[in-house]
Parts: sequence; C-alpha cells; structure tokens
Amino acid sequence: MRIDVVTIFPEYLAPLDLSLVGKARARGQLDVRLHELREFTHDVHRTVDDTPYGGGPGMVMKPQPWAEALDAVVASGPGEGAVPTLVVPTPSGRPFTQELAQQLAAEPWLAFAPARYEGIDRRVIDDAAARMPVVEVSIGDYVLAGGEVAVLVIVEAVARLLPGVLGNAESHQDDSFAPGRMADLLEGPVYTKPAEWRGHEVPEVLLSGNHAKIARWRREQAFVRTLANRPDLVARWERGMMDKHDLKA
Ligand code: ADE
Repeated sequence: MRIDVVTIFPEYLAPLDLSLVGKARARGQLDVRLHELREFTHDVHRTVDDTPYGGGPGMVMKPQPWAEALDAVVASGPGEGAVPTLVVPTPSGRPFTQELAQQLAAEPWLAFAPARYEGIDRRVIDDAAARMPVVEVSIGDYVLAGGEVAVLVIVEAVARLLPGVLGNAESHQDDSFAPGRMADLLEGPVYTKPAEWRGHEVPEVLLSGNHAKIARWRREQAFVRTLANRPDLVARWERGMMDKHDLKA
C-alpha cells in the first residue's frame, strides 16, 4: 500500500519509522511519503493560513498550497488515471471504526490531509472530491490541535490489517470490534507467566488445558468487560443476536 501525507509538521509523523509501521515500510509492504505543505507556498513567509471569511476565532488553511500539494501527490502516482483515496482527519468527520479501517486497508493508495488551525478551506475538499474518493474521518469526540495524531492512529490501525504485516495471521481475528466471532464485544483480560505474581493468580481455567472451557470463559469475560465499559456495544450485540436468530425484541 502507498500512503502520502501532506502536513506542515512532517516531524510529527516520525513515529511512522518505528515498530509495526516502520517494519512494514522496511519490508516494502508500505510505501509512506511525507510532503511538507509549506513547499507549495509562493510567498517569502511560506504562509499556509489566513483569517476566516465571516469572522470568528482562529485561522483557516488557504486553498492554494493544499491544492498544489494534492496535485503533486496525484502527479507522482502511477499515472493512467490512478488517484488516491483522500482521508481528511477532522472532528466533523465520520467516526473511525474497525470497519472503516478494513475498508481503507483494501485500498491500494491513501493520501492524508491533516489540518491545523480551524481547518482547511472547504473548497479544497470539494475540489478534490471531484477527482478522487474523499473520506472525512474523526478519531473521537474530542478536539486535537491538529490532524497529525489522527493520521498516526489511522495509519497504524490500517497497516496492521495489511497481509503479512502482523506476525501471526490470526492475531487480529479476535480484536475488539473485529467483525466475526467476537463481533461487537471487547476483548477480555490476558495473562502470561508467572502463574502467581504479587499474590495474584492467573484464573485457573486458563491453566486447565480445556479449550472449550477456556473459550467459554473468554466469551464471558468479554461480555462482562463490554457491559462495564461499553453498554452501548452490548445493546448492539443483543440486536445482532436477535436478528441472527430471527427473534423479535
Ligand atoms: N483533528 C482534530 N481533532 C480531530 C479528531 N477528533 N479526529 C480527527 N481529526 C481531528
């Protein structure tokens, strides 16, 4: 997969050299290219923002540098009409979920446009949408100082779904939120050696070797944790079970 990120803070994305994403890049599974937005300005101050029309606090990112940067990203692609899917992190976007991560992981090419200040002039998004798929994405109901951290979140969630990136091909199957066996339930607690530590014991069932019992215990634990932390997901899970077994509430 190829990923382009246009930003005024390329240094903010240094963690993309580390760990899982860094290894995927080193192995050639992920081709990440960072672009400095200010390279696409034409004034001595390398200005990327201006005051908002209609008034209000803060500054808005100017359309011209963004448009030229995105044009350059498209032009650096494989050609023959190939365009990236443009991901615009914004608190006003659609929620980032495991399902959206899976959809993005199926794309060959993503470009990210993380904003600073109050956001990017809307015409940049509308203009891009006429040429390429655009998805505005929020990573949660809070406001960050800029979209770069959201890019890190989205890239990591997507990268670990790419074929061959995780060591064990099975290891994201049981993830919290992954569609499938434990759909809609959070993952339960996990333990490793030693069996007793500071007087706390590993639940006996996990040492029993009885795989059916262990699976049932894990489902129960997932349910208990989901009920405590995400009752909204339990309600969704129950609706799913009702539908699956064609029951009426
Ligand atoms: N930029 C600022 N806040 C954000 C959020 N919650 N999600 C995505 N991008 C953002």
